[in-house]
Amino acid sequence: MKENKVYIETYGCQMNLADTELIMGILKDHGYGLTQEIDDADVVLLNTCSIRDNAEQRIYGRLGNLKTIKNSNPNLVVGVLGCMAERLRKDLVEEKKIVDLVVGPDEYRRMPEFIDLAFHGEKGIGVRLSKTETYDDIIPYREDGLSAWISVMRGCDKFCTFCVVPFTRGRERSRSLKSIVDEIKLLSDRGFKEITLLGQNVNSYLDGENDFADLLAASAKVDRTMRIRFTTSHPQDLSDKLLYTIREHGNICKSIHLPVQSGSNRILELMNRTYSIEHYLTIIEKARELMEEISFTTDIISGFPTETEKDHKLTLDVMKKVRYDGAYMFKYSPREGTKAFKMNDDVTEEIKSVRLQEIIQLQQKISYEINQTLVGKEQIVLIDGFSKKSDQFLAGRTDTNKVVVIPKDGKIKPGDYIRVKINRATQATLFGNAAINSEINPNSMALTA
Ligand code: SAH
Ligand code: SF4
Ligand code: F3S
Repeated sequence: MKENKVYIETYGCQMNLADTELIMGILKDHGYGLTQEIDDADVVLLNTCSIRDNAEQRIYGRLGNLKTIKNSNPNLVVGVLGCMAERLRKDLVEEKKIVDLVVGPDEYRRMPEFIDLAFHGEKGIGVRLSKTETYDDIIPYREDGLSAWISVMRGCDKFCTFCVVPFTRGRERSRSLKSIVDEIKLLSDRGFKEITLLGQNVNSYLDGENDFADLLAASAKVDRTMRIRFTTSHPQDLSDKLLYTIREHGNICKSIHLPVQSGSNRILELMNRTYSIEHYLTIIEKARELMEEISFTTDIISGFPTETEKDHKLTLDVMKKVRYDGAYMFKYSPREGTKAFKMNDDVTEEIKSVRLQEIIQLQQKISYEINQTLVGKEQIVLIDGFSKKSDQFLAGRTDTNKVVVIPKDGKIKPGDYIRVKINRATQATLFGNAAINSEINPNSMALTA
């Protein structure tokens, strides 16, 4: 019998990228082949995101393109997975006739069954959310490489008033520490060099007695030549124990993504973020006392309902106080079903745009200034491949997750840790040269340097 081939496109956050690997693992186990060519596929799946309206509009656009492909190949099965599947459910198959499958994040085990139904001309819909599903026992399908994501928990219980995630991903639940550590071991044996532990709020990870700091420590011990990263941390749950753990282990990256969303306590309260700016700044201060080189990135929303010029200025103030290494910056987008959706979206599109531009410009200036302070200094870089712009250059990342570009050198290959002396910097990239005798003995704890 001919092997059916599946093609998947992934949108949204890293959790979706990790889920795509999980889905590929499940489908491969059931005899499906994978393809990178859409024209070669019997099944086309879109793993979708609902976080802002423009994310969903992109998917509608893509479904429009797929319609043309399906017209010339009527047997093609088209599936919508992920957060949009969960949010729109049946509406998707009713409105978009070309959609055969709608499968939410907690029903991926049943993908083979749903695809079978679709091959027999029936619609497959699986959108139940689960309190317990963590896919603990499933090994995701990953190409060989250097970096891998591992979901350590699913769902979110925070209910920030602007956010669809608690509705699309359901309640918070953690995977077992043992299964995560075992997966890291497998990846270490395959030559992976960097692991990112993922969750919407990793700080509320809990497996029996073990909290997220324990999980980080256990992950770091598996292979000291592997870098361990994690995202996202919610400011309310970031403990001192976690900061001490990050400091203690040379291979846990000194880089924290800590979304602030707004600098105004009034807006934070309306957002149900459950911390004050004062508390937020205390965490940053503590972390910097403990670790000189730690970097911070953040998420910011501009134009949340009732946001005034004064609130906006407070956001700019916080950015100046913290001096983030980088930020993801968004215009508020009302999402049906959330609490904020019932508030009046009273900041005009024009004002949202002006404020967002001010936020972006300030961040670019700060990122540029921070990067200039690294010129003349040495950084330890994990080389991960060629530079995006030219194959005459190699690129990698620092512990603090900054991109570094160096001239190609026959001796240096992806997967190597090298010392790089930085000689130039833009707001997004550092440029430098490998320092002499730069290779780092992977068996020493040299990553702490
Ligand atoms: N769990 C993570 C974030 C997940 S969503 C956390 O709590 O930090 C990523 C980011 O998208 C959020 O931090 C927020 O800045 C942004 N976001 C979420 N909902 C949004 C909305 N309705 N409009 C605009 N931005 C939004
Ligand atoms: Fe959304 Fe808030 Fe949960 Fe993050 S913590 S996923 S912003 S509800
Ligand atoms: Fe989007 Fe769902 Fe992630 S809404 S940001 S794909 S959790």
